[in-house]
Amino acid sequence: MNKINVGLIGLGTVGTGVVKILKKNAALIARRTGCTIRLKKVADLDRSRCRGLSLPAGAFASDAAAVINDPAIDIVIELIGGLEPARTLVLQALNNGKHVVTANKALLSHHGAELYAAAARHGVDIAFEASVAGGIPIIRAIRDGFASDRILNFYGILNGTSNYILSRMTDEGADFARVLRDAQQQGYAEADPTFDIEGIDALHKLCILIELGFGMKVDYRKLYTEGISSITALDIEHARELGYRIKLLAICRSAGNLIDARVHPTLVPEQHMLAQVHQTFNAIFLQTADVGPTMFYGRGAGMLPTGSAVVADIMALARTIGSGCPPRVPFLTATQDCGLRLQPVKNIQSRYYVRFSADDRPGVLSRIAGVLGRNRISISSVIQKGRTSHGGTVPIFMLTHEARESDMQSAMRQINRLALARQKAMLIRIADDLLSDA
Ligand code: HSE
Repeated sequence: MNKINVGLIGLGTVGTGVVKILKKNAALIARRTGCTIRLKKVADLDRSRCRGLSLPAGAFASDAAAVINDPAIDIVIELIGGLEPARTLVLQALNNGKHVVTANKALLSHHGAELYAAAARHGVDIAFEASVAGGIPIIRAIRDGFASDRILNFYGILNGTSNYILSRMTDEGADFARVLRDAQQQGYAEADPTFDIEGIDALHKLCILIELGFGMKVDYRKLYTEGISSITALDIEHARELGYRIKLLAICRSAGNLIDARVHPTLVPEQHMLAQVHQTFNAIFLQTADVGPTMFYGRGAGMLPTGSAVVADIMALARTIGSGCPPRVPFLTATQDCGLRLQPVKNIQSRYYVRFSADDRPGVLSRIAGVLGRNRISISSVIQKGRTSHGGTVPIFMLTHEARESDMQSAMRQINRLALARQKAMLIRIADDLLSDA
């Protein structure tokens, strides 16, 4: 039986999961790959992390160089996350002729082109199933399952932390800040939650999926990204009354040679399956030309779910190495101009949910409606509740008919400047198109 040596850099939650799976499923892995996969070295700055893992004697190193420069290692697993030193370490591993497995979505969305080019130059592969939606095999589904098909659009709940916060706000009517604090205490949100709650993590994952699905290299800085930190319990309550759930969606829609890609909170019709994705779960609803709609659902993070995706990649590479197949990097990524262009967000059309906070006095609603009308925006319904005392401030909620984003933004700017506006208006896009796509 072929022997494949792997080296692991980063013994955090996912790294620990990889060590455990390689051990507990060793017989199954050998049977399915025809190879013995041996964890030869594990590097982490913190030695205490290998406690209880029964690593082979001499396998632990505190310096990643011990993994990258070991000539016997065939596959390097990078699980330290972040941009540096991950980028340098992965490049060194590729330059040393090693295949790389990574879960690092930030690294791929920022430096993917450089890394894929280095891999191609050195005749090795980069595998990254764990970088998007943890245990859901969405990379394999797009790359292999839909290989002959044309992806039309997809909508993903790709960040478990945001979905957890929105789910609890929905279930408990609780405020964002309180749920975030709780999520941090329970380990569902980082001490610095910015990447998760401001949509950046979902953006990185979206870029990877677009590149795979459309063969288009995307500059993450060009995509519209908005997180969930301005969503209030009242928005969630009103969305619910109107038949919607608020979800942070990563959206990619194609029309001709235009790609409309963005991350933002979205009103999802409650009948749609994505509205039923709760807590830390992830999901991707995808539509292709030949298969039609499909939905992928599962755990997007965690020791064993994400560890399982990493080990599946190790196994795929082991089969490649074992069979002497050439590497598949050019097949994985955007290597030529695909003829597609990003559609600027200002050109999209959508229905909108809008929340204003304004003085409660005669004529206020007509002034707001007037601004909307002058910007070619037609109102489909209005709710105003909770009058406290004459002259107080009240929230006003509106749904619009389909409108152009640039008109909506211009109306919002004008309304925010009115003397009657008490808070910045909040706008949430409505994904009614999900129902027609399904
Ligand atoms: N921080 C991510 C999330 C998990 O909350 O979904 C890893 O991608």
